[in-house]
Amino acid sequence: MDLRRSALQTHLKPKKPYQSTADGRRHALHLIRINRVFLSLFCFRQGFYSASHARPGGLARLCMDELTMSTATIGQAYNYKVVRQFIVATIVWGVVGMAMGVFIASQLVWPEMNLDLPWTTFGRLRPLHTSLVIFGFAGSAQFAASYYAVQRTCQVRLYSDKLAAFTFWGWQSVIVVMLITLPLGYTTTKEYAEIEFSGAVWMTVVWVAYAVVFFTTVVQRKTKHIYVGNWFFGAFIVVIAMLHVVNHLSNPVGWFKSYPVYSGATDAMVQWWYGHNAVGFFLTTGFLGMMYYFVPKQVGRPVYSYRLSIVHFWALITLYIWAGPHHLHYTALPDWAQSLGMAMSLILLAPSWGGMINGMMTLSGAWHKLRTDPILRFLVLSLAFYGMSTFEGPMMAIKTVNALSHYTDWTIGHVHAGALGWVAMITFGAIYHMVPKVFGREQMFSTPLINLHFWLATIGTVLYIASMWVNGITQGLMWRAINDDGTLTYSFVEALQASHPGFVVRFAGGVFFLSGMLLMAYNCWRTVRVADVVMAEREAQIA
Ligand code: HEM
Ligand code: HEM
Repeated sequence: MDLRRSALQTHLKPKKPYQSTADGRRHALHLIRINRVFLSLFCFRQGFYSASHARPGGLARLCMDELTMSTATIGQAYNYKVVRQFIVATIVWGVVGMAMGVFIASQLVWPEMNLDLPWTTFGRLRPLHTSLVIFGFAGSAQFAASYYAVQRTCQVRLYSDKLAAFTFWGWQSVIVVMLITLPLGYTTTKEYAEIEFSGAVWMTVVWVAYAVVFFTTVVQRKTKHIYVGNWFFGAFIVVIAMLHVVNHLSNPVGWFKSYPVYSGATDAMVQWWYGHNAVGFFLTTGFLGMMYYFVPKQVGRPVYSYRLSIVHFWALITLYIWAGPHHLHYTALPDWAQSLGMAMSLILLAPSWGGMINGMMTLSGAWHKLRTDPILRFLVLSLAFYGMSTFEGPMMAIKTVNALSHYTDWTIGHVHAGALGWVAMITFGAIYHMVPKVFGREQMFSTPLINLHFWLATIGTVLYIASMWVNGITQGLMWRAINDDGTLTYSFVEALQASHPGFVVRFAGGVFFLSGMLLMAYNCWRTVRVADVVMAEREAQIA
């Protein structure tokens, strides 16, 4: 019923607000609501549109009533504006970053796609892809989810609207800096930390503001306990700050050039201590916080075991920090450090699966909901991929396995099992859960489209990782094949030729995944177009 209504509303051509027929009046109302929501997204004052554009007395009064309500209740309402902004940013950077992924995947199939321009070559666009999807997409998603969840679980409005707005614009400016400087070739060359010194300093300022907003909100909470999801968000914020600062310590020689204070094997160790924990905290811990809020909410049941959540939290953050050396097997790093990294990675399987099991078991007695709820399906599948990639990771950390997998596409397959299967899927679930709530709708514009997105994302992920497994093992075996006389059986180019079909399949998988992402953008756009300000304000009231 609601679906039909919203579809109908959006098909009607809106008339100008000053047209005074009954029809015009209804459409004008929608126009004003839509515009107010969108203007508020970009930080215009709430009264701006209604005051200067809505002429007829009745309409203007209605808007003013809404306005009075929002001002009067601001102390008792959640700050959803910053959540809405970060949701939009997640979708925008998701589309751009994944389109970049598809583009570089096409370069590996058709090298002509490098376009013979320095700023469009694979070497420059690859770090742009990783930066956009990690910091732009996954980063904005975690900002949105943590701001949404911390307010609702602490029963207070976010601390300082201004500082929260600063974190939004500050974070977006960081991503824009990456978008400009990386294709131009400005890079520290440290993976996932490519942004040059001045950008990195600015990033630290924004992150500290984030920490202040988040932790002050927790301190001001009206609830007795700190909900477990907030423990995960908190650890994510603290550890990322520490990693970022330590890894970026360098001597600047200009605005866009600096040299690390570390050298040789120490530099490599610091980089992969950072790199692995970026995975552990930027692509895992924050998302576990997301899982602990959205899975129980969507299922409508409490977390399976609160005790397990606390145990696996402490185990996870204690162990992750030691596993970095598995990225440096068979290098100049001391052998004991490599073995320690391997052992810690194997032990890491336990807390990782602790989280996965806790999320999955929350569905106990409610599995039937999977049949009808595609949002829940996204959340559960993301947990399945989390379980899969955190089983694969420890296996790849075993030195003898790593001797085969390192440098091959197997690593790329593992990365995207986590990135697409876990990070992106749980983000989709969380966004579909949040959008109707923060934009004042009963539900998303179209549930069948969510379903279609689910299948496109699933097929895309499976094509991506399966092709990379095949490629990875083929490459590893071909590189190590030796003739009786000790010479190599295959040249590098032969291994590359054998990888070509896999590259084509990965490209197809990427197209599937990106199409799903575009579908989500469309579905969100249609939901937001008929956003209901009054309902959004009602939703935002602190219970
Ligand atoms: C228990 C959990 C995990 C362990 C022990 C683990 C272990 C590993 C290992 C051994 C590698 C290959 C290192 C190499 O040969 O260079 C690797 C690479 C990687 N993993 Fe995992 N992994 C885990 C979970 C995850 C998850 C959940 C994600 C994503 C969300 C992820 C993202 C990555 C990335 C991005 C790389 C590539 C790093 C690079 O070389 O650029 N990992 N991981
Ligand atoms: C449409 C979806 C995507 C496509 C087609 C895609 C494609 C690619 C390609 C072609 C590479 C370079 C592989 C190579 O060097 O051989 C890559 C690397 C990478 N991508 Fe994606 N990607 C997608 C989505 C994502 C997402 C959503 C994330 C994270 C949330 C992500 C994280 C990464 C990372 C961390 C690497 C570097 C891996 C490493 O160094 O081992 N990607 N991606």
